[in-house]
Amino acid sequence: MNDNNLNPIEISPNIYFIGVFDPDIRTFDIIMKTANGSSYNAYLIKTKEGVIIVDTVKLEFQELFFKKIEKLCSYDEIKYVICHHLEPDHAGAIPQLMQKATNAKVLISPQATAMLKAITHKDNIDFETVWTNKSLKLGDKTIQFLTTPYLHWPETMSSYIQEDKLLFSGDVFGSHYCDKRLFDDVVGDFFYSFKYYYDHIMRPFKSYALNAIRLYEKFEIDIIATLHGPILRDNPKRYIDYYKKWSQNNYKLIANGKKTVSIFYLTSYKNTKDMAEAIYEGAESVEGIIANVYDLASIDESNMITILEESDGILIGTPTINADAPKPVWDLLSCMMLLEKKGKVAASFGSYGWSGEAIDMIIHRLKSLNFRIPPNESIKIKLIPTKEELHDCFDFAVEFCEIVNGKMVEMTMN
Ligand SMILES: Cc1cc2nc3c(=O)[nH]c(=O)nc-3n(C[C@H](O)[C@H](O)[C@H](O)COP(=O)(O)O)c2cc1C
Ligand SMILES: [Fe+2]
Ligand SMILES: [Fe+2]
Repeated sequence: MNDNNLNPIEISPNIYFIGVFDPDIRTFDIIMKTANGSSYNAYLIKTKEGVIIVDTVKLEFQELFFKKIEKLCSYDEIKYVICHHLEPDHAGAIPQLMQKATNAKVLISPQATAMLKAITHKDNIDFETVWTNKSLKLGDKTIQFLTTPYLHWPETMSSYIQEDKLLFSGDVFGSHYCDKRLFDDVVGDFFYSFKYYYDHIMRPFKSYALNAIRLYEKFEIDIIATLHGPILRDNPKRYIDYYKKWSQNNYKLIANGKKTVSIFYLTSYKNTKDMAEAIYEGAESVEGIIANVYDLASIDESNMITILEESDGILIGTPTINADAPKPVWDLLSCMMLLEKKGKVAASFGSYGWSGEAIDMIIHRLKSLNFRIPPNESIKIKLIPTKEELHDCFDFAVEFCEIVNGKMVEMTMN
């Protein structure tokens, strides 16, 4: 099936889709499965005073992209190339395009300056930086730039065309969902992909998503031109509302206003488990805390993510096995890349036989993930915990939970 044809599609007066379809891609950015392939959306704006290209495509598709441009204009007419995001799936054709379009200037966010050089390896690319409140008027189109960083790279930005009420959102609101029918009201049901994309790409940057939404909500939006998957024109506000709902932290159904502390443990001889239980008792004794214990030996990864997401405090218990923490503990730590860690407090505990390095490794990792680590960062017990040691675990949890509750102490952060 060849989903690509050469005809550019007009999505709004004089604004054309010149992106490419990649129906066969099955894994994206290592971390995502793409059963429906993807598309690299790019756009061309025609005005009486010249042409603007909005983003490019993956390098391997650039010839098709250039052919689409050639159907609409000559390279001399291109005045600007707006690059909302410099990840290679969108920036792949920039070097070649800039060689062909010798009158063009690249418009990027200030944070993209060093990246532009690192991906083009050229010093002679003419560029200018733009941010919120800056705008560009060319012919009958007025483009307002919007600074929307970390969605999902530091340099990402968006822009809005006043005359068309059209938002170029960058990767935001994208879906890896290749469908040549292109518009959300005529493609297949892509909602699973829209949510999956949010969960894997945007969720670690929730607070940045909320900042971007605050900017987007200032505008009347008739159409959202994304960088992947369907263009959103059927009540686009509902997509913004989904992002808003998913990015707000107030959707806890159970905790009843209390702070949630999640205690994860792994154990072979129940020593770390006994510690986890004493820690649970300590946590539960603190007012305003709801504590839960989870055995890492039998928890599904998607559940781990949901639990972590809901947690204000996270305690990770592990024995030391062969000078390391066992794999389920690292699995827990690796799925944290899908979360926003901001404000969450974390610490570690565990039983050990002689060296006990696992607990320190966990703390090291938690610090590098930018969790807030309390002064008393871990508790280690040699082999079978005594009654007194279990009492220490209880106290350790009380102190931890007071910090989760807002007690001011000097925290370790990376
Ligand atoms: C296969 C194996 C390897 C171990 N390796 C280490 C180690 O490298 N360093 C250490 O301090 N303890 C080591 N231990 C000891 C455990 O950490 C200790 O028995 C601990 O109390 C187990 O806690 P648990 O009952 O919560 O699993 C090892 C134990 C086993 C069974
Ligand atoms: Fe991206
Ligand atoms: Fe992308």
